Amino acid sequence: MGKIEKRWRTGMSRREALAGLASFLAASPLLHAQRDPWPLGPHRRFLGFDEMRDVFDFEPIFRANVPLSVYDYTAHGTESEFTLYRNRDAFGWVDLIDRGGVDAKDVDTSTELFGHRMPSPIMLAPTARQRTLHPDGELGMHRAATTTGTTMIVSNASSFPFTRIARAGAEGPLWFQRYATREMEPNRVALGDAQEVGSQTIVVTIDQQASYYERDLHDRHLGGTPRRVARRTPPNPPNPYRVSAGRLWYEWKLFDDLRPMCEVPMLAKGILTGEGAKKCLEHGCDGIIVSNHGGRAIDYGPSSLEVLEEVVQAVGGRVPVLIDSGFRRGSDALKALALGADGVCFGRASRWGLGAFGEEGAQRVLEILNAELRQAMAAAGVSSIAGIDRGIVKTNFP
Ligand SMILES: Cc1cc2nc3c(=O)[nH]c(=O)nc-3n(C[C@H](O)[C@H](O)[C@H](O)COP(=O)(O)O)c2cc1C
Repeated sequence: MGKIEKRWRTGMSRREALAGLASFLAASPLLHAQRDPWPLGPHRRFLGFDEMRDVFDFEPIFRANVPLSVYDYTAHGTESEFTLYRNRDAFGWVDLIDRGGVDAKDVDTSTELFGHRMPSPIMLAPTARQRTLHPDGELGMHRAATTTGTTMIVSNASSFPFTRIARAGAEGPLWFQRYATREMEPNRVALGDAQEVGSQTIVVTIDQQASYYERDLHDRHLGGTPRRVARRTPPNPPNPYRVSAGRLWYEWKLFDDLRPMCEVPMLAKGILTGEGAKKCLEHGCDGIIVSNHGGRAIDYGPSSLEVLEEVVQAVGGRVPVLIDSGFRRGSDALKALALGADGVCFGRASRWGLGAFGEEGAQRVLEILNAELRQAMAAAGVSSIAGIDRGIVKTNFP
C-alpha cells in the first residue's frame, strides 16, 4: 500500500478531527469557567439603573459584574438544589385574596419588634462576605439600610468587623448574627463587642451544619473554590463526603450557654418545625427565624413558607417569629405576614442590589420591596400590618 493510501486508512477523518477539537474545547477549564449557569434572563440587553422594576432585574447585572465563583457563592444551594427552587415554588402555592378597597397611599407598613419601631417588617438577612460583591461591602449595605429605615442583620462572616460597620457613620438598626464556636470564650467576646456597639439582638444560626454545594465541588472556577473546599476539609478524622465538621456539634444546650452572654433578645435562626421552635423557647430564645438558609442547609427539606404556620402555632404568640428563604417580592412578604410572621428577611435579593449598583442598588432593592408590599397590602384590602390576617391568603401546599 502506498504512503497516501496508508494515511487515508489510518489517519483521522475530518469528522474525527472535529470531534476531537470539540471535546478538547468542552473540557477546557477556561471555557468551562466562562459558562453561565442560566441564560441571561428575559431581557435582550442589560437594563440601566433607572429601568430596574423588580428585584429580579438586578440579578443579571450582578452576575455580569462579578467572577463566576462569586456569583455561584450567592446563587448556590445544597446538593441538587431542590429546596432552593422549592423556596420559590412555595409562593405559587399561596393565593392572595383580593379584597380591594384601600388606597396604597393610606397603607401603613410600620411595625414593632422587640420594642423597636420599624417603618416596615422587611429586613436584611445576614449574608457573608459582601465585599466580594462591591468594595463597600457591608458598609454600603448598612448605608442603604439606614436610608430606607431597614433593620440589617450582620453576618458573623462579614467582610468588615461588626464594630467597624456599627461605627462607620450610618446609624440604622443592626442585629448581630453568630455562628457559635465550641469554645465559649470567643462567643463571649464576639457577643460582648456586638452589644457594646449597639446590636439590638443576637441571632444564633443553628442550621447549615453539614452542607456541600455541587457547583463548588465541580471545577467551574479554574481551581478557585474547589481547592478552598478541599483545604477546609479537616484531614483528621478523614471526612469522605467533604462535609465541614465545623458546626456538626450543635445541640439545644448551646442556647443555655449563650443566653447569659446576651443582654438583648436572643433569636434562633434556622428553625423548620414546631417542635424545634418549642425547644428554642425552653432553652431561652426570645425569637425564632424560620429559615432553611435559602436552600443552603439540608436539601429536600421543605420551603420555610410551608412550615411557617406550624412554627407560629407552636410558639403561640410567646415570642416574635421571623422568616426568610426565597423571598423576592413585597407580595411574598405579605403572604408570610398573613401566615403569622412578624418580620421577613431578604438575603440574595439584597446581594443582587449591592452587587449590581453598590449602595444605590441595595437601596433601590429595598425601596422596590417596600413599594411592592404597600401595593400588595392595598390590593388585599389591608391598611396596616396589624390588620393583616389569615383571611387574605389561601394555601394550596402539596
Ligand atoms: C451568599 C449567602 C451567604 C449567607 N451567609 C450567611 C451567614 O453568614 N449567616 C447566616 O446566618 N446566614 C447566611 N445566609 C443565609 C441568609 O441569612 C438567609 O437565610 C437566606 O439568604 C435567605 O434566603 P434568600 O437568599 O432566598 O433570601 C447566607 C445566604 C447567602 C445567599
